[in-house]
Amino acid sequence: MAKKKMPSVKKIYVDYNSTTPVHPEVVEAMMPYYRNVFGNASSIHRFGQEAHRALDLARESIAKLLNCDTSEIVFTSGGTESDNHAIKGIVSAASASSAMASAGNHIITSKIEHSAVLSPCKYLENTAGAVVTYLPVDEYGVVGLQKLDEALTDKTILVSIMSGNNEVGTLQPVEEIGRIIAKHNESRIAKGQRPVYFHTDAVQCAGKISLDLKKLNIDLLSLSSHKIYGPKGVGALFIRKGTKIHPLIHGGHHEKSRRAGTENIPGIAGFGKACDLAVKNMATETKKIAGLRDAIWQGISKKIECVRRNGHPEKCLSNTLNVSFEFIEGESLLLNLDLKGIAASTGSACTSGSLEPSHVLSAMGVDPVTSQSSIRFSLGMLNTQQDVDYILDVLPGIVTKLREMSPLYKKKKRAG
Ligand SMILES: Cc1ncc(COP(=O)(O)O)c(C=O)c1O
Repeated sequence: MAKKKMPSVKKIYVDYNSTTPVHPEVVEAMMPYYRNVFGNASSIHRFGQEAHRALDLARESIAKLLNCDTSEIVFTSGGTESDNHAIKGIVSAASASSAMASAGNHIITSKIEHSAVLSPCKYLENTAGAVVTYLPVDEYGVVGLQKLDEALTDKTILVSIMSGNNEVGTLQPVEEIGRIIAKHNESRIAKGQRPVYFHTDAVQCAGKISLDLKKLNIDLLSLSSHKIYGPKGVGALFIRKGTKIHPLIHGGHHEKSRRAGTENIPGIAGFGKACDLAVKNMATETKKIAGLRDAIWQGISKKIECVRRNGHPEKCLSNTLNVSFEFIEGESLLLNLDLKGIAASTGSACTSGSLEPSHVLSAMGVDPVTSQSSIRFSLGMLNTQQDVDYILDVLPGIVTKLREMSPLYKKKKRAG
């Protein structure tokens, strides 16, 4: 009997801020290190040397993406570790030196950081007596520069403000933030005090905006491979030469004693390749993807009433669109989209399942009900105009169906 052909289910992935598919060229670049080049990069023999060469090459690729020195790159297990290393490592170094201890224990961050920054800050508040200022943001999710300036005190040791937000895409003015900190440091250095360090979580920005660390006054910067078409479980922390920081993970002398543990050579080689591709493709990819993202928003705002876009309309990651669909639960919308083969998200994958409204949208002044009605489309390399057309075909019907179940929406309709 002839086999019945299954109808093919459409699969459209618009959740690139959660993770990205591994680029085929990245897979290729990793393969030799799973097969014959399996040495431990710390070994002296040629197997070790081959592995070490991969490490060097990848470090060059990451340094090229950031325009920094290779010696300023430390490989980590991802963005979360890089953020933890930056924050805990600075606090630990400050408290270890008596000269520095007099500098204080004050950290400045923002209310819209990823949990990989907020959780270590909370941890240090609870366990190490750190004092943390959580800067507010405006309705677009931008940190106020004046507020930052006012928050800096003689006790401040670290400012950690993300470059681009994972939920709404808003970009922070990192150049100006760096300038304010440098200005503040002038008088501290004159007084022989320790400088305030500036850390930025650039996990969502790599490959989307140019990050020139020769120009930016940034001391520490976190990257994650799986957000830029590399493998999961690999990342890097840029540590500017001279920065007083302790390791997060103690053990052997790997990474010049800055991060212990046998290096994940296949992952690091893949991450290096992903950075090469990011450098090569950034200009064309971001333009294409921004066009598709804008087309989704234009379609939504034309076809569906009672919607609002969250995040900055211009100073925004090129691929991110966060929209509130009033009278609808974001989770229900996601499930219905998933049934139609569209994979979007309500926000950060790390907080999905939480019943709390998004801390990012709350900080932007979005009320809890509207916040719960929001979803994020984050686009990437494989998206096409056909995907956009399909999303815009399917979405209005789902929204109408879900709103018909909403007593509040019906009331609004009756009221005209
Ligand atoms: C802004 C931001 N920082 C940090 C992370 C954590 O990175 P990783 O998944 O590599 O630990 C993420 C992941 O979603 C992120 O979006």
